Amino acid sequence: MDWHKLPFGYQKTSYNLRSIYQNGVWSPLEAYDSEYLTLHMAATSLHYGQEIFEGMKAFKGKDDKIRVFRWEENAKRFQHSAKGVLMPEVSVELFREAIFKVILLNKEYVPPYGTGASLYIRPLMIGTGAEVGVKPADEYLFLVFVTPVGPYFKEGFKPVNMMISREYDRAAPLGTGTFKTGGNYAGGLRAIRKAHEMGYANAIFLDAKEKKFIDECGPANFFGIKQNTYVTPESTSILNSITNKSLLQIAQDLGMNTERRKVPVTELETFEETGACGTAAVISPIYKIFDPDTQKTYTYGDGEPGPVSSRLYKKLTAIQQGDEPDLHNWTTVVE
Ligand code: PLP
Ligand code: COI
Repeated sequence: MDWHKLPFGYQKTSYNLRSIYQNGVWSPLEAYDSEYLTLHMAATSLHYGQEIFEGMKAFKGKDDKIRVFRWEENAKRFQHSAKGVLMPEVSVELFREAIFKVILLNKEYVPPYGTGASLYIRPLMIGTGAEVGVKPADEYLFLVFVTPVGPYFKEGFKPVNMMISREYDRAAPLGTGTFKTGGNYAGGLRAIRKAHEMGYANAIFLDAKEKKFIDECGPANFFGIKQNTYVTPESTSILNSITNKSLLQIAQDLGMNTERRKVPVTELETFEETGACGTAAVISPIYKIFDPDTQKTYTYGDGEPGPVSSRLYKKLTAIQQGDEPDLHNWTTVVE
């Protein structure tokens, strides 16, 4: 494996773990070496979108230990998503067992320290019970697979350009935006394709009701920096990013002020730095944001990452890799 050149993509590993939900209980986890599922053609996941997933990363440290970042937050968000689309919850204990076992079963795929790559852990749950009417299934599959990954944006920690999506929304104010369910990503595909066609790395979604406020940035949350303050949108239609939550804390640890509130598009003019943050994206600094409505382009810095984004990025990745003290107990060693 050429660890330094890994894209953010799927690579086959040795095993995935599965548990099935029947008659109100989850079965013990079983390891599979097959990458395929056999599914009933009327499964609710195929028709009515009963599908949720998570994403987290494990890192190999200088000390050769493997650390998982904030998995408990992902376990809780998985429960939040399950409730949102009427699926059964996976207990934190079962989630933990699945994550740690699947990493150990695929240990040789955890990228070495210093390569910039990590092991991406992807838990998912689907409705497997057959229904034709629109209602939740009575049977489900919980599966966790892993895959070694490099940076989400091919630029890595280099600023990217983004385009505001004026034509398409991702999620409605009282819709499913806070749940990590496949339908939100399907809903966003046209906006992302449009941004790519226009030469941008991704789309920035606005609040669907007024189209006045920033929601999020493709598969990542948005943040802006000004006057020693970290500002990030509050919205009922975005995914509550665990990376963002961590950056809010790190910003405070570094003596910055933090604000989570509505961020009007017009405020873009006032930021010194902007960025996208998420498990896959880590921090992707933003160089330019294009608004097709006003034909205005907001520019941040000179095409290099800004000083605050760089500081936040260094701190976050140092904690994740075990290079710096983990003051908030965010990492768990896998053993
Ligand atoms: N927003 C969306 C839509 C996402 O898919 C993700 C990725 O999980 C994020 C934000 C970032 O969340 P997190 O930092 O928890 O990975
Ligand atoms: C993540 O950051 O974990 C994501 O889920 C982003 C994307 C690949 C869906």
